Amino acid sequence: MQSKTNMSDLNPTDTSEQIDPNGANPPGEEPRIIIRGGKPLNGEVRIHGAKNAVLKMMAGALIAKDVTVLKNVPNLTDLHTMAALLRHLGAKVEIGDGEVTIDATNITDTEAPYELVTRLRASFCVLGPLLARCLEAKVSLPGGCAIGERKIDLHERGLKQLGAEIKVEHGYVTATAKKLTGARIYLDRPSNGATENIMLAAVTAEGTTIIENAAQDPEIQNIAQLVNAMGGKIEGAGTYQITIEGVRQEDLHGAVVDTIPDRVEAGTFLMACMATTGEVMMHGVNAQHLYSVISKCNEMGAEISMFAPDSMRVRMHERMKAVDATTLPFPGFPTDLQAPITTLMCIAEGTSILTETIYENRFMHAAELRRMGADISIKGNAAVVKGVQRLSGAEVKSSDLRAAAALIIAGLCAEGVTEVTELKHLDRGYENLEAKFRGLGADIYRR
Ligand code: EPU
Repeated sequence: MQSKTNMSDLNPTDTSEQIDPNGANPPGEEPRIIIRGGKPLNGEVRIHGAKNAVLKMMAGALIAKDVTVLKNVPNLTDLHTMAALLRHLGAKVEIGDGEVTIDATNITDTEAPYELVTRLRASFCVLGPLLARCLEAKVSLPGGCAIGERKIDLHERGLKQLGAEIKVEHGYVTATAKKLTGARIYLDRPSNGATENIMLAAVTAEGTTIIENAAQDPEIQNIAQLVNAMGGKIEGAGTYQITIEGVRQEDLHGAVVDTIPDRVEAGTFLMACMATTGEVMMHGVNAQHLYSVISKCNEMGAEISMFAPDSMRVRMHERMKAVDATTLPFPGFPTDLQAPITTLMCIAEGTSILTETIYENRFMHAAELRRMGADISIKGNAAVVKGVQRLSGAEVKSSDLRAAAALIIAGLCAEGVTEVTELKHLDRGYENLEAKFRGLGADIYRR
């Protein structure tokens, strides 16, 4: 398809064009991010709070008949969708500047309808909190998505072990219980969502629940931190064994908790800096959440240093080297940065092999990167990426949130103009990504 962009549109002195994210589009043209690549990123950027922690903490706030405040909260469409769901359930939700307040004093409905769950898979995580609070919940099945089947068998099995009766019919999961009782629950795989739903349901179960082979992600720790601040008793979150001592529902209360930094946003800026051979200082980062990523980026040639308390400097002065990487549950290399690192591999010196073990179908970005000149072949769950000297700008379509980030990074380092469409994915998880890149010197805007 022919590019719809004139080079004159990209004149850096034309700031009206560059800074207006809602600039008018020609009739019939969908919004797009337009990038003229080749400028090294330089400067400082602040990382926002973690999407995947805040969404689950919003759900977690339902367990107490009280008001909970979450801080360091990004402004994302996913967060607004979760707010709409909580309001539907009867909670009052206010989204302010960097914080969200959830008043869950009254829950008037225990059904999460299809039209909201289908917009946000994370909303399935109201199942555990509703059970803990009301002993009943009816939540639409989220279904698969562009990256994989995304099953819920482990959620179901774990909640059954706590004493819930689970029925799946007419596209909904219905969970009911006379009471919940603690149990020892082994997860076949360390699923984030299953760990969260079981952990949150077990907060008010009678006795002790132990989750074995739990997900160890920092977001789980953040949710446990919230629950403990609300009067719950969770130990071991962040390890493979989580112990929850049940408390009485009436002993739970509201709390104020900070959201941890978004490690995927930090990884996205780290990789964009590397792709453009830039130098960027990121603030609001937790390096402990990023060891696998830092280690891979070091192997590719990045110089990364930490500055107290939470700043990280990234420098890249030479062409990246090829590496092999495999996505794994935390603390392994995160699947959510698999697409961005694919872009780096596309221009690294040598051949990289990237193996995806979390999702069955997370290589949709490969076909778009090929349109930009990448040499990628997919063999089963692995991508073989032969580095080329340079990518070339093209019109490309994002298939999911992290694919969108990967294509934007590709556009930042490519020769010529790249246009990225299907921005609804991007806006689910990154706040003002293009404005932040512009602050680092990139020639990028939304039209
Ligand atoms: N799985 C099962 N059975 C289950 C649950 C999961 O087989 O009962 C499988 C899934 O099909 C998938 C794998 O286990 O293949 C991982 O699923 P998990 O439950 O860990 O993922 P999730 O909770 O659905 C969260 C993040 C994802 C992130 C994954 C893995 C949120 C809102 N989403 O999803 O984030 O990729 O953990 O780290 O927390 C993103 O932010 O772009 C994103 C997709």
